[in-house]
Amino acid sequence: MTWTRKDLVSIAALSAEEIRFILQHASNFKTVGARDIKKVPALRGKTLVNFFVEPSTRTRISFELAAFRLSADVVNMSASTSSLTKGETLKDTARNLEALLADIIVLRHSSAGASQFLAERLKASVINAGDGAHEHPTQALLDTFTVCEAKGRMDGDLRGLHVAIIGDILFSRVARSNIHALIKLGAKVTLCGPPTLVPRSLESLGVSITHNIDDIIGSVDVVNLLRIQHERQRKEYFPSLGEYTSLFGLTKARAAQLKDDCLIMHPGPINRGVEIDSDIADSGRSVILDQVTNGLAVRMAVLYLCANAPQS
Ligand code: CP
Repeated sequence: MTWTRKDLVSIAALSAEEIRFILQHASNFKTVGARDIKKVPALRGKTLVNFFVEPSTRTRISFELAAFRLSADVVNMSASTSSLTKGETLKDTARNLEALLADIIVLRHSSAGASQFLAERLKASVINAGDGAHEHPTQALLDTFTVCEAKGRMDGDLRGLHVAIIGDILFSRVARSNIHALIKLGAKVTLCGPPTLVPRSLESLGVSITHNIDDIIGSVDVVNLLRIQHERQRKEYFPSLGEYTSLFGLTKARAAQLKDDCLIMHPGPINRGVEIDSDIADSGRSVILDQVTNGLAVRMAVLYLCANAPQS
């Protein structure tokens, strides 16, 4: 196939073929990380602005490293040190970045739709690094890549695999993007968490729902634990963190029930002892740090494809 998108705003907009195309490119780019000189000239002469209006560790650093490895020039920008604090609009800020000849803008923003808004108005490529509770497409791509790699499915065919996403689904952009990616690639997806955070309406996305983790813990191939998104919740959705852990946490007792080859995933940041036991997060079945490493290759692929898409 030929890649034609200058932007990556959501997984919902991608076809299964496009997702597999990105994963294949990520697999090729991962080999660059194994070389002595971890650099290729694919984006030499291009300028990337990492524009993060919300905090980030993994996503911001890995976009920056991915751009370095592709030989792009990188500028980091945060809301608190920009003229957004003086009332400049997001659109004006982005148009000024474009006037400074930025080729790629990686945007993390608290408002759902912020990346789409800019993508429709700028010639530069816009990559969504997380927009409110809407989507976090590169997280889903790196999660999917990690599953494909660990399960020997590098063709991107996930039929026959059962993935449980456990936790705060309602407020999770990671969950939404993962659901779209996994369903498109053929996986069975079950969401699990309190009814207040896992409403039945999510079944319309093609997933199953349970509010009892013990119904599924012994039969799934992958568990992806999500943290409680306190920053997006406007009221308490469950009585206490202790009760949440006892009902939905991956405790040692529950981890003992997992299939031997079940992958344990978490997008980070982890709240140790809440959604996952601290020792389990560091155990041999955890691929949490592999996810982070794979994020580099996936983001290299996304930057390379979008920045080289034909101009319309
Ligand atoms: N998973 C993730 O998006 O982490 P950061 O918020 O640290 O980027």
